[in-house]
Amino acid sequence: MIRSKIGGIGYYVPETAVTNDDLAQVMDTSDEWIQERTGIRERRYGLKHKETTSSMGARAAEIAIERAGISKEDVDFIIFATLSPDYYFPGCGVLLQRELGITNMEAGALDIRNQCSGFVYGLSIADQFVRSGMYKNVLLVGAEMHSMGLDYSTRGRNVTVIFGDGAGAVVVQPDDREDSGILTTKLHSDGTYAEKLAFINPGAHGGYHFDKMDIEYDFGYDKSIKYGEIFITDKMLKDGQIFPNMEGQFVFKLAVQKFPEVIKEALDEVGLETSDINMLIPHQANLRISQFVQRRLGLSDDQVWNNIQKYGNTTAASIPIALCEAWEAGKIKDGDLVCLAAFGSGFTWGSALIRW
Ligand code: UT7
Repeated sequence: MIRSKIGGIGYYVPETAVTNDDLAQVMDTSDEWIQERTGIRERRYGLKHKETTSSMGARAAEIAIERAGISKEDVDFIIFATLSPDYYFPGCGVLLQRELGITNMEAGALDIRNQCSGFVYGLSIADQFVRSGMYKNVLLVGAEMHSMGLDYSTRGRNVTVIFGDGAGAVVVQPDDREDSGILTTKLHSDGTYAEKLAFINPGAHGGYHFDKMDIEYDFGYDKSIKYGEIFITDKMLKDGQIFPNMEGQFVFKLAVQKFPEVIKEALDEVGLETSDINMLIPHQANLRISQFVQRRLGLSDDQVWNNIQKYGNTTAASIPIALCEAWEAGKIKDGDLVCLAAFGSGFTWGSALIRW
């Protein structure tokens, strides 16, 4: 059986570090509150007008491609995961392709929208393509430029202080070793609470879901809008309903339940135990979530990698950035069992087990 492996990995974070005190200059928050509730000390912001989600993704991809021992022209498929794309459409996959200068590719570029689980979903797709023999060098990128779409007033503080910009990339290739590579991936979703962590406007919803689900939130949609009229209302602009919204505690409670569940599910499938994990790379949503998951699984500090303190939550980029950092620090060696796990908007969640 052909297995796939991560043949090359890279990450890129922009230079500008924004501290909690910097944010406290523009909104009512404090370093103490942010560190206590999230563990975050600072996050990076891309350079406006000079960097984008796809350009940062390209920087990470260049490193991953070089480390995979291939040239850009050898990439035969691109998968791009983000929730903060450069454009509403087309997706970042083709923009990354153009940025890398590989526009003559015969294969395609796929954009996936699975938010915090985007990288794990992308890895699963890449794994299937490689195992089926269809592709040999799948470039998977997770990147975010959150800083362009956040509410910097006090109104948006519960969301804004959490997020940061960055990109991570891997090249997924066939693994010719025995019993190595991606052992399994597990993917889940449940749309019941889609609006609990969402970026609703502008969108083509037309108020449909709020009526149908009897959703209590007011997202500023005006049912009297006719075709031909712009569908961003004054109310949306005035009340900041054009930014991400999150019911933090609701998300937190589900996250701490789903992370351990989906990690155990993957371990059970391949007949391994939590004690077999050499390195868990959890999606960096909140340091308190990671610590809860660590305790629940009985893992020691050196079995879990966290870097949210420096970068905040970089959504689709958080796992590949953390994985790459851990690998560069020498904490992941050949033969180690690496576990990736994510939970986020949708809700979607998933895990992957890799024999490195
Ligand atoms: O990656 C995708 C998945 N996302 C997650 O997993 C996030 C999960 N949720 C969380 O990490 C936490 O819920 C947050 C860090 C977002 C919020 O922490 P919390 O302890 O759940 O706070 P809260 O939302 O319950 O708010 C508590 C108080 C409120 O004030 P009142 O109503 O008690 O007076 C908020 O207005 O804290 C206030 N608050 C803030 N205060 C200072 C909310 N955000 C801030 C802030 N600075 N940035």
